[in-house]
Amino acid sequence: MNTLLLGTTQKDLDTAAGILRLGGLVAVPTETVYGLAADALNAESVKKVFKAKGRPMDNPLIVHIASLEDIESLGLVREFPKTARMLSERFWPGPLTLIMKKGEVIPDEVSAGLDTVAIRMPSHEVTRELIRRSGCALAAPSANSSGLPSPTTASRVMEDLNGRIDAVVDGGRCTVGVESTVLTLVTDPPRILRPGRITKEEIEEVIGKVEIDPAVISGMEKGQTASSPGMKYKHYSPKVKVVLIRSDDRQYRQFLDRRWRRLSDCAALCYEEDLPYIDAPAVSLGRKDDLEGQARRLFEALREADEIEDIRIVYAHCPKAQGVGLALYNRLIRAAAFEVIEIPKVKIIGLTGQSGAGKSEVAALFKERGIPVIDADLAARRAVEDPEILKKLREAFSDEIIREDGSLDRRKTAEIVFCDDEAREYLNSVTHPKILEIMLGEAKDLSEQGEETVVFDAPQLFEAWEDFYCDRIIAVVADRQIRLKRIIERDLLSEEEATHRIDAQFSQEFFKEHSDDVIENNGSLSDLFEQANRIFEVLYG
Ligand code: TXA
Ligand code: MG
Repeated sequence: MNTLLLGTTQKDLDTAAGILRLGGLVAVPTETVYGLAADALNAESVKKVFKAKGRPMDNPLIVHIASLEDIESLGLVREFPKTARMLSERFWPGPLTLIMKKGEVIPDEVSAGLDTVAIRMPSHEVTRELIRRSGCALAAPSANSSGLPSPTTASRVMEDLNGRIDAVVDGGRCTVGVESTVLTLVTDPPRILRPGRITKEEIEEVIGKVEIDPAVISGMEKGQTASSPGMKYKHYSPKVKVVLIRSDDRQYRQFLDRRWRRLSDCAALCYEEDLPYIDAPAVSLGRKDDLEGQARRLFEALREADEIEDIRIVYAHCPKAQGVGLALYNRLIRAAAFEVIEIPKVKIIGLTGQSGAGKSEVAALFKERGIPVIDADLAARRAVEDPEILKKLREAFSDEIIREDGSLDRRKTAEIVFCDDEAREYLNSVTHPKILEIMLGEAKDLSEQGEETVVFDAPQLFEAWEDFYCDRIIAVVADRQIRLKRIIERDLLSEEEATHRIDAQFSQEFFKEHSDDVIENNGSLSDLFEQANRIFEVLYG
């Protein structure tokens, strides 16, 4: 099928109206996002909408009207309640969708078998004119391929749907940028099923108390039924993985900076104010306090992030879920498939270093000063108590590594991974995320108890990606021969074993390059303490 790209001349609008009347599909501009329109009362046309988008049939569509009279003259609803009248007077035409008991003319395809129908009167003049010219109420979901971010320009519609629909009417860039607020009036009190530009507070000014459906901000549990079927699907997602970061500005920038410097595999979806601090590729949503501007940019920004080459992951600066921010949060958390990283509100000092370099001595100095030290080795012990992790390790390394009481035989495991790089990498890939989770959890608890600083005491700070969370990283290093001698004596290892352990770790150069402070511990303990004290002076004055 050849997709016509139409403008907004009288002739073009007549062409589009003709296509709609004959049962075809036309993508139309609205103030929120582009919609993929069909005659709402023609079941066959409506079916084509689902097909063109690849949309699940159990997700109902919104019916778009040009004037209030359309509701009655077409018989769209069984009853138009008083609350609907009050809301329509205040917000229509505009980005508010109302759900009411449906009229008999509404095909099951539109309502997906529910006994309700969603109705909205868009404020975009072009689409209202098309409704008038065609004489059709228009069923129109967002004009994207199902699952991708909604389009806010005609060219984004073409990217997704060229060749699958009859025409696109280019009415310029959408001014709101996120889809309409969906409010159901069949519950008492009325419920917001999808947040948008019209906020809960604005609605409450008109009709009193409304609720926000819990699915707006949280994921659906298995087996739970959605009040709005659209909420159960993964949504708004670019192809690249998106993760939300909940933290203060400084921590967000630092996380990106550390990750970018080490792995160069990420991009930022951030605020204008973040840009000067971020070296990674970055797409700005706009100024931090300009929520409406961010909403306008959101989907375009997600698509732009998707076009950045050679990245694996986009870290989005998490918005405050209030007012219009709730709409942003709702879209972003779905784009992220509900994956959120929360950075605890404490200063984290990463303390790392090579085996035998003297890291534990420095950790003891922190403890002496009353600063809590979170020990990665202890976290690792707890991590392998997790049944999921145990199961994975058992599958990979056989029953041999499980003790009679069901716990992990750490010695056996160590023996297996000792000479086998691949096995060690697998062990790490399974345990490191859990270890990190445990350590961040402890840091969060400590911050809630009022601590301002905590130390991550972690030999594998870099391997486990704990460094991304650190405010400051202190590395303790020493020359190879000295370390070798120390660990042979301390841990009673053979020279071969000690050499192996040392060879499995990053080089001294690596530690130096990626740390903020380096303690070189080749001499006496008092020399070590002196270097540590110099760092404490910088940290604590
Ligand atoms: O701003 C918008 O609303 C855009 C433009 C094109 O108007 N349209 C839009 O449509 O976003 P769509 O299909 O992408 O989203 C419609 C949402 C879905 O979450 C759907 O589940 C919900 O409205 N919905 C529609 N009818 C419903 C009903 N009867 N009961 C509950 N939810 C309904
Ligand atoms: Mg949609």
